Amino acid sequence: LFSSCRNSYEVYKETADWLRARTALCPKIAIICGSGLGDLADMLEHKVVFPYEDIPHFPRSTVSGHAGRLVFGELSGRPCVCMQGRFHFYEGYSISTVTFPIRVFFLLGVEILIVTNAAGGLNPHFQVGDIMLIRDHIGMFGMGGQNPLRGPNDERFGVRFPCMSDAYDQDLLSLAMESSQELGFLGFTRDGVYCMMAGPCYETIAECRVLQALGADAVGMSTVPEVIVARHCGLSVLGLSLITNTAVTSYGSQEKASHEDVLRVSASQAKALQKLVVHLVSKLSPN
Ligand code: 6GU
Repeated sequence: LFSSCRNSYEVYKETADWLRARTALCPKIAIICGSGLGDLADMLEHKVVFPYEDIPHFPRSTVSGHAGRLVFGELSGRPCVCMQGRFHFYEGYSISTVTFPIRVFFLLGVEILIVTNAAGGLNPHFQVGDIMLIRDHIGMFGMGGQNPLRGPNDERFGVRFPCMSDAYDQDLLSLAMESSQELGFLGFTRDGVYCMMAGPCYETIAECRVLQALGADAVGMSTVPEVIVARHCGLSVLGLSLITNTAVTSYGSQEKASHEDVLRVSASQAKALQKLVVHLVSKLSPN
């Protein structure tokens, strides 16, 4: 009856136990690599790699630009687990499948989630190549009832009605801004509100105008479900959007959003984003 029952506590636990039996690392930090940002996982040292298809109950990714493996290792000496390739609602997964890895991370003892994505800029002051620290989000699909927490609540993960006014951790946000300053990245670091659309088509001009009017600074097709589930089970969240294109808001514009542009820009700015994450992680407590 309830789609979320398929992913019972025992199922998440089986996956977590399977992983724990195969790596000595106990990561406190989980990192989700967005479109074209998978190289971040390659920066880990002493890697232990699990293709998604080898992990019991784990979904598989289908979109190009996403590798599809879980990488354990150390970043700046801190044990981390990286998702190289994430699951999107538009691929046809249920919303509880999209967020499956988050609860596995929680059961592995993860305390901090760093989530990255590629996004279209809605704020007219944003430029292609900017990094936006996510201050808050608008989950359009969640407002429409597609919330990953819909269905029976398992108190072992969190409360029935979790707070979302503190979804993005203030201290992590400050630390990210501080890191950006130390790296000389302030010129292209912004902060703002990320809006998730279900996708897979990009927005119409009218839709972009609506999102701007609602106060969104960037738009993408991911992140919000994972953040909701992470906050439900008490993880602290830092979100980083790489602005890969400018959302079209004028009928005179010849610009068109394309996945190729998204991948091209994320490839060229991925190094900066990686540096930011590595620097930031080095500031976190080693244990
Ligand atoms: Cl313009 N829209 C959406 N929904 N996702 C994106 C994007 C735009 N650019 C990158 N990802």
